[in-house]
Amino acid sequence: MIRRWNSLCLLLCVLLASDVHAANVTALTGTWSSKSNTVFTGPGFYDPIDELLIEPRLPGISFSFTDDGHYEEAFYLVTSNPTTPSCPTAVLQYQHGKYVLNQNGSISMFPIGVDGRQVLSDPCDSEISTYTRYSQFELYSEWNIVIDEYQGRYRLNLFEWDGTVVRPLYLVYRPPLMLPTVTMNPTSSAATETSTSTSVSSRHKIKRSFENRPRTSARKTATIDYDFWWWSALCLVVGCGSSYVVMQTRQLKVE
Ligand SMILES: *[C@@H]1O[C@H](CO)[C@@H](O)[C@H](O)[C@H]1NC(C)=O
Ligand SMILES: *[C@@H]1O[C@H](CO)[C@@H](O)[C@H](O)[C@H]1NC(C)=O
Repeated sequence: MIRRWNSLCLLLCVLLASDVHAANVTALTGTWSSKSNTVFTGPGFYDPIDELLIEPRLPGISFSFTDDGHYEEAFYLVTSNPTTPSCPTAVLQYQHGKYVLNQNGSISMFPIGVDGRQVLSDPCDSEISTYTRYSQFELYSEWNIVIDEYQGRYRLNLFEWDGTVVRPLYLVYRPPLMLPTVTMNPTSSAATETSTSTSVSSRHKIKRSFENRPRTSARKTATIDYDFWWWSALCLVVGCGSSYVVMQTRQLKVE
């Protein structure tokens, strides 16, 4: 029995060790999502044509990386309000740009400033939600990739400066599910949008979760590849198709 445990431990150690050391660009490539498995980068989170952020069913975060240095991030965070617990504030945030793996093991993320978007909403003050352009450089002091014993999946740990893990991220797509990595919103049309808008205009910038529910629940039962193509097909039928096609074409032109 003991011998068996020993060999199991040894096997695990070898697996973990080999994966920690495989923490390089090849290993990082893909789409990673936090445990709720509801937030994914790509056209399901942000529609760059209508500049629409789409609210996922549950909060979470997602990062995507390509092996040629592009990243994309999607955050849906709900923060409880200590004074009025019934009034949590919600943040939807999209950014993309370039990342650099630094010599000291840290990772820097440089966003394309004109493309980032953020919606802040407060349910107790529902007349107002703020839709703004968003651009924030990020630096994670360390990162690694391990096999999560419980989930049986690859897990990416990004570490903050104080050594805390941002929030475990699990590999969901490889190759990554991402919007075009080029600048999508030219600077000229952008200047006016940094201002705070009131509900009428900013409401149009959020799709409520129930609109996404059929899609997100279907995702759970399907395998990754099948799911991706099913989703794409649905997307074409349902009508974000036009934007998807436009984006694909743009991407082709760029390549
Ligand atoms: C990166 O990781 C992959 C997969 O483990 C490995 O095959 C490759 O040799 C590594 N590349 C570098 C540059 O270390
Ligand atoms: C690691 O390198 C990056 C980029 O050069 C730098 O910004 C960061 O401060 C460095 N971190 C430490 C702990 O030296």
